[in-house]
Amino acid sequence: MTIDQLKEKFIEKYGEGDFNGYFSPGRVNLIGEHTDYNGGFVFPCALSFGIYCLIRKTGRKTVRFASLNMDFEAEVSVKELNKPIGKEWVNYLIGVFAQFLKRGIEFESGADILIYGDVPNGAGLSSSAALEVVTAVAINETYNLGIGRLDLIKMSQKAEHEFAGVMCGIMDQFTSCMGKENHAIFLNCDTLDFELVPVKLDGAKIVISNTNSPHKLDSGKYNERVSECRAAVEAIKPYKPISALGEISLEEFNKLEDKIEDDTIRRRARHVVSEIKRTQDAIKELKAGNLGNFGKLMNESHDSLRDDYEVTGFELDTMVEEARKIDGVIGSRMTGGGFGGCTVSLVKIEAIDTFIKQVGENYEAKTGLKPEFYVAEISDGGKKLF
Ligand code: GLA
Repeated sequence: MTIDQLKEKFIEKYGEGDFNGYFSPGRVNLIGEHTDYNGGFVFPCALSFGIYCLIRKTGRKTVRFASLNMDFEAEVSVKELNKPIGKEWVNYLIGVFAQFLKRGIEFESGADILIYGDVPNGAGLSSSAALEVVTAVAINETYNLGIGRLDLIKMSQKAEHEFAGVMCGIMDQFTSCMGKENHAIFLNCDTLDFELVPVKLDGAKIVISNTNSPHKLDSGKYNERVSECRAAVEAIKPYKPISALGEISLEEFNKLEDKIEDDTIRRRARHVVSEIKRTQDAIKELKAGNLGNFGKLMNESHDSLRDDYEVTGFELDTMVEEARKIDGVIGSRMTGGGFGGCTVSLVKIEAIDTFIKQVGENYEAKTGLKPEFYVAEISDGGKKLF
């Protein structure tokens, strides 16, 4: 869908007059998984696909919500922009409006909103964060509220906690807002300091493989991992006063891990602490141009997510196994929350066609599911389009 076509759709729906358009992207994380809510490091980049939000301020006292991807539509009083509607998609937007209301902002006039997304749904490429961020940016600018980007990111994350029930970290919303073309974000999720690192892949590209698995990441499994990490912190505390797993080094952890009695909790913590180290190492390797070592760390990341964190499953593991069999694959791992969703692989350009054909056939033969492949374009974060 082109921007002009989107504009036409808006006019068809809401009539002629002025309006603006915003865009926020989905993301793929290269390494640093399930570390963000532990105050660790992540290394994601923004993609070229994402969510579009077209918006017009109106004289009415209601906000109308519609999407080109969903049938459900809603009209909500400006006073009720903090009340969820069943389990509908509009709750992602209402959840963001609610954060503005919480800051004491009153919306005197309503708006007409049209959403369109081209992020593959449920693929773990963070369509929900893109939707929250695009909404936050659009509201902030349409109503001239002057709220800074970092606050908009935090408000978007809160919307996910409070309206979707997923106690997510900050990686997805941060990336959707702050991404930069051809760069990945080396983000310290404790301090929110970040560095944009050029993704120079020397004859290789990032290939995203969508498992199209029916096992989607549900809030239950995700929140369970969040609680397990808290339990690990509690078990370590008598020996070292920490408030998050990100505060303990791998060496210290190796000395203390026996103090964690529960085997599951110990393995969860081992993943997090080792993944934080892998992420720091991976960035050094990328900067030094050692792509092979970067790929090796990606592989180790997946293995740790499979064995210790247990968030992969048959489909993600099969996709990664098949990918690693192809000549020209530098590294391959699951990306995002896990269970279903996508893998991310570094593939030499000349091997990409074979990769898509071979991995596609073998994955389908083993799982009975048809996968999809996207060669990633690393793009900018949330912006005004017109
Ligand atoms: C989901 C969450 C993120 C992050 C990843 C795992 O995408 O939204 O905050 O925790 O899972 O790395």
